[in-house]
Amino acid sequence: MVSIIKTLTTAALAGGIFASAAQAGGTVEVLHWWTSGGEAKAVGELKKAFESRGGTWIDSPIAGGGGDAAMTALRARVVAGNPPTAVQLKGPGIQEWALEGALNDVDGVATAENWDSVLPPALASIMKFEGKYVAAPVNIHRVDWIWANPDALKKAGVEAMPTTWAEFNAAAEKLRAAGIIPLAHGGQPWQDATLFEDVVLGVGGADFYRKALVELDQAALSGDMMVASFDQLRMLRGFVDPNFSGRDWNLATAMVSRGEAGFQIMGDWAKGEFLAAGLVPGVDILCAPTPGDGFVLNSDSFTFFKVAGADNLAGQQTLASLIMSPDFQSVFNLAKGSIPARTDVPLDDFDACAKLSHADLVAAVASNALVPSMAHEMAVPRSVRGEIMDLVTAFFNSDMSSQDAAKQLAAAVARAQ
Ligand code: BGC
Repeated sequence: MVSIIKTLTTAALAGGIFASAAQAGGTVEVLHWWTSGGEAKAVGELKKAFESRGGTWIDSPIAGGGGDAAMTALRARVVAGNPPTAVQLKGPGIQEWALEGALNDVDGVATAENWDSVLPPALASIMKFEGKYVAAPVNIHRVDWIWANPDALKKAGVEAMPTTWAEFNAAAEKLRAAGIIPLAHGGQPWQDATLFEDVVLGVGGADFYRKALVELDQAALSGDMMVASFDQLRMLRGFVDPNFSGRDWNLATAMVSRGEAGFQIMGDWAKGEFLAAGLVPGVDILCAPTPGDGFVLNSDSFTFFKVAGADNLAGQQTLASLIMSPDFQSVFNLAKGSIPARTDVPLDDFDACAKLSHADLVAAVASNALVPSMAHEMAVPRSVRGEIMDLVTAFFNSDMSSQDAAKQLAAAVARAQ
C-alpha cells in the first residue's frame, strides 16, 4: 500500500503505452449490482467505454445494495453451468471462486500493462490468485463516512460535523429536538453491519477492529470493547425513524438530500447519489469520517469467469484492460463517489470529500490504521460475515443487551469457522 504515496508519473506513461496492447472487441455479459441512480450512471460509463473499444455489452444487473442478491444469483448461474463472463466480486470472494477453479486469469494484460507498479500492493494481492491477476479493481470506496445536510444541521443548531461519538449523539439529539430525523438508515443486514463496523473502528481503534473483525479473536469479540461498541450501536438505533425496516440505502440517502434527515452513515457510494441529484459534496452535502482514526477499505473489482469461445475471451481481455486504464478510472470514479484504485490518476477534478478520502487513506497506511470492510466483503469469508450480520441485525431489531450481543457474536463466529 506504500506506493499509493508515490506520484507515479513513469507508471502513468507505461499505463498509457500498454493500454492499447490488449485485444480489442469481444463480448461480455456483466453481472453487477449497480442499480441505484449514482451506481447506474457509473456502470453506464463502463458500458459506454467498452462499446467504444468495439465490444458488445450484455447487462445483467441484480438489484440489492451490498451485493448479497447478486452473489446468490451468481452461485445459481455457476451451478447451472452458465456463468456470466464478468462479475463484480471482491475481497476473499475472489479467492474463494479462484480456489474452485471458476476464474480465468488476465495476467497477460496485467503484465503488459504493468499493473503491479500502479496498484497499492495490498489491493494488488487481493486481485491475485497463485501470483496471477484474476480480478481488476475499479476503485477505492471508503466505508466510514458521515454525510449530512447542512441546512438541517443549521436548523437544529448543530455548528460542526461531529468528531467524537459523544458529539454525534449530542448533534443527533438536537436534530430530533428540531423535528428532523437524526439518522437516515435502511434496516437491511448489510446496512446494519456498515454502521456496526464503523462504530467498532471508532470505539475500539484499528488494532481492535483488526483483532475482532479480521482475525476473529474470541477475546476481542466478546470483551469490554465490543460491549462498548454495541452500546454506541444501540444509541444509533435510537436515532432512526420508525419506518427504517427494509428501506434501500439510496432511499435513506435521498432523505438526507431532502433535509428530512440530518445524517447518514454510509460508504461514499452515497456520494454518487448526491452527485446524481446535482448536489455538490462539501458544499450542499457535508462529509466527515465517522469518529475515530482509521479508514475502512472497500474496493470494487471485476472477475472473469471460465467461459468458452474466442469472442468471450476477447471480451474479458478488453474489459480488464479498460477497467485499469487511467482515463476510465477517472471518469468512472467521478460518478461512483469513490477514488481510483490506480495510484497515478490525478485527483484535480475530484471534489473535496474525494480529496479527503485520499489524504486519509495515505495517513491510515502510514499509521497502520487501514482496515478492510467486513460488511463489504473485504475481510472475512462469506460464511463468517453472514453469521456476524445476522447477530448485528438481531441486536438492532431487539432489546438484546450489549453484553449478550458480544457473547453471542463470539459464539456465532466460532460456529462459522
Ligand atoms: C459496493 C458499492 C455499492 C454499494 C451499495 C458496496 O458493497 O462496494 O459499489 O455501491 O455496495 O450497493
